[in-house]
Amino acid sequence: MSNVMRLVVLLSGNGSNLQAIIDACEEQTIQGQIVGVISNRADAYGLERARKAKIPTHTIDHTLFKARESFDQALINMIDSYEADLIVLAGFMRILTEGFVQHYQGRLINIHPSLLPAYKGTNTHERVLAEGATVHGASVHFVTAELDSGAVVAQVKVPVEAYDTASTLAERVLRYEHVLYPTVLQWFCTGRLRLGKDGAYLDGELIDTPLQLVVEP
Ligand code: GRF
Repeated sequence: MSNVMRLVVLLSGNGSNLQAIIDACEEQTIQGQIVGVISNRADAYGLERARKAKIPTHTIDHTLFKARESFDQALINMIDSYEADLIVLAGFMRILTEGFVQHYQGRLINIHPSLLPAYKGTNTHERVLAEGATVHGASVHFVTAELDSGAVVAQVKVPVEAYDTASTLAERVLRYEHVLYPTVLQWFCTGRLRLGKDGAYLDGELIDTPLQLVVEP
């Protein structure tokens, strides 16, 4: 298959989203190819998942770099050696420099476990429970320099149950993420989704409020 979109996935941990993307590429519900997986942690289980799928993996240990800029430059060098069309953040626990984000303008996408703009940052499940919210969710967005900002493309709503702990809630949200992320990646890979000057566009139409996917996880 030629002209297929080349995806590079960045992660730091378990990589269950990576697994969902690997499976979708194999089933061709994503018409794209994961050409490399990069982690900042050598022990990330996501690397193991990639190796099992025969995808090249790399670790770039951020602790070996004095400055954020030099770490990000090493990342750029590695990613660009793969001629990536799209850089997919899947639980990559590093704040990226403005230089990095600008370099990949329109080609950098992230999934965040909340209904953005609510609950930016970490520990979203704990904060949702602490506030007694009854609805939680996940969002896929193009990345800009500000943390968990940028054009939100699509979201899924996830119910919060009375018995939930942070871990039961996190687990449920992940199941929805595993449908949401491949769906949005397929839009990008088929040329339906792009970032314009004023926001994200799907099929030529500005997404002015995030698309709400109804998902059966
Ligand atoms: C997910 O909750 C994702 O939304 C967030 O990091 C977590 C990654 O989980 N950005 P996994 O490593 O894909 O299992």
